Amino acid sequence: MTKQTFTRHEEPEYAFESLLRFLRDSRGFDFTGYKRTSLMRRVRHRMDHLRIETFAEYLDLLQADSDEFAALFNTILINVTSFFRDPDAWEVIRDEIIPALLAQRSPTDPIRVWSAGCASGQEAYTLAMLFAEAMGTDAFRQRVKVYATDVDEHALSEARQATYDAAAVESVPAELLSKYFDAQGVRYVFRKDLRRAVIFGRNDLVQDAPISRIDLLVCRNTLMYFNAETQKRVLGRLHFALAAHGALFLGHAEMLLSHSQRFTPLNLKHRIFRKAMGTHAPLEPADPVEYPAERFGDLPGLDPVRELAFRASPVPQIVITGDDTVAMINQQAETLFGLSPRDIGRLLRDLEVSYRPIELRTYLEQAKVERRNARIQDVEWQRPGAESTWLEIHVNPLVAADNGLLGVSIVFFDVSATRSLLDKLVQTNRQLESAYEELQSTNEELETTNEELQSTVEELETTNEELQSTNEELETMNEELQSTNDELQTINDTLRDRTIELDESKEFLDSVVNSVRMGLVVIDREMRVVVWNRGCEELWGVRSDEAEGNSLSRLDIGLPLTELRPMLGNAFVDPSFQGSVTLSAINRRGRHTEIRVLCTPFKTGSGWVKGALLLMEAGGTPSGQ
Ligand SMILES: C[S@@+](CC[C@H](N)C(=O)[O-])C[C@H]1O[C@@H](n2cnc3c(N)ncnc32)[C@H](O)[C@@H]1O
Repeated sequence: MTKQTFTRHEEPEYAFESLLRFLRDSRGFDFTGYKRTSLMRRVRHRMDHLRIETFAEYLDLLQADSDEFAALFNTILINVTSFFRDPDAWEVIRDEIIPALLAQRSPTDPIRVWSAGCASGQEAYTLAMLFAEAMGTDAFRQRVKVYATDVDEHALSEARQATYDAAAVESVPAELLSKYFDAQGVRYVFRKDLRRAVIFGRNDLVQDAPISRIDLLVCRNTLMYFNAETQKRVLGRLHFALAAHGALFLGHAEMLLSHSQRFTPLNLKHRIFRKAMGTHAPLEPADPVEYPAERFGDLPGLDPVRELAFRASPVPQIVITGDDTVAMINQQAETLFGLSPRDIGRLLRDLEVSYRPIELRTYLEQAKVERRNARIQDVEWQRPGAESTWLEIHVNPLVAADNGLLGVSIVFFDVSATRSLLDKLVQTNRQLESAYEELQSTNEELETTNEELQSTVEELETTNEELQSTNEELETMNEELQSTNDELQTINDTLRDRTIELDESKEFLDSVVNSVRMGLVVIDREMRVVVWNRGCEELWGVRSDEAEGNSLSRLDIGLPLTELRPMLGNAFVDPSFQGSVTLSAINRRGRHTEIRVLCTPFKTGSGWVKGALLLMEAGGTPSGQ
């Protein structure tokens, strides 16, 4: 099957994912948790450098060339860093966090610090300086360990050397620079005795186990390269790494959205947090409720009191005997059901109340046969022209001490008020629930917006870092150009000197040539005039600028060239030739004159004949004058 080819814009998304999977499976480095956009941009950056169009082609290259991985790795991992990066935040670390941390520990307790994603080490040495300042160098050496880790071995080996150029240490305050660095030539080396407290090692925050019991964990400008899912996972590990009350210091664009309950802010502006311990006390058991015991005395003459009390009871009640005869009706029941004392002695089943608002027979039977209380809730009684009344009806058997059935009490509780209150409560509850849901969804939206904002900020931050790194690239290129420019300048200076020398030589030669009083002509092998001296100008009346470059035979001079040619022919072929001839010619004034011509070959330094040299002298009275 032939492989389908795409242009960059047509290439499907999975091509990039395949590339990431290849890197993970073959090189053990998992970039799948990195933010796609910036990651893609970095990979494309590398591809553009190699003039590779698609991820598929680049994957082919990675499979074929094992060195390419290192170059890609370097392009992806941005190592931008500096001493005291974001100085305001470091001031808080120096003035608040470190003193508080030291105050919590006893004077001999070890202090464990971790710079995670340390790049070329500036952050780790910044920490070392601040702790040494706070504790004194002796205590620092004895108690402090600064673990500094990164995934990038190349950055780590730079960090281990602990040597920086002048530009890198520019952000170190002068007094700290002189105290903690030794100048070596143009470089600054971190003090060896304190350097030993800084331990560098490779640790992949995404895949490797964290260091534990850390008092101050600095993980800055590294989380922001990860997507939300991976950030969450890494933050879980950082939480685990911290000792109780340990502090976490993030980059100024980094947040703890998904872990806010596990860290409490110490300084939100500068992204400094403390590990929250999250202990929960068990619930206290409730006090048992005590009820007072009820005691009744059987006193004489109480019956009428009881009768009256029954009649006056605010709750409607009817009592029937065991054979269903109405025994008692109180006033409230009379009013509610339109009964009267005349109904006493009638069978209950003959009264409307026995089946309206509810059929009572089953409950009465139950009370009589099974001696069981019944509680009938939510009974609606709709009377014509009136609002619904809601009743709760209690049907209770009246049982004698010997368990014989005396009768049944039917009590009607008007629960309309409670019911409407309940309805209102239910309604309010529903409203509250829907308001809560709305709130929750608004909250979720806000959270999403917040996360989006956060990721935009991080994205901008990343872009900023990339711009910074591009800037550094430009800076390097600028320096290279500068050095090329310096070289060109030197070449230019040399050329100028040579030109002056040449001018001087030419002037000297012109003087020599023009000092010869005879006419001196040099011609090349094509008979073109190369040198025409002042003697010639005087002899023939042709200026050197008219003669030089022109063929001798074309010059308007009265020299019979046909007679000269054999001699010139000899001079061109014989390097040792020397000939002379006297010719009858016509000079510039138009007079006949005898011209003596000497001819030799014109040779290069190596003896090669380039042309001929002629010396001409007016040699006597011209014939016929
Ligand atoms: C921009 S630098 C930050 C350096 C320093 N912390 C600072 O803020 O100046 C980000 C560092 O994170 C490192 N890094 C990226 N992915 C990592 C990972 N999975 N585990 C550990 N370090 C990682 C990079 O190699 C790089 O050195």
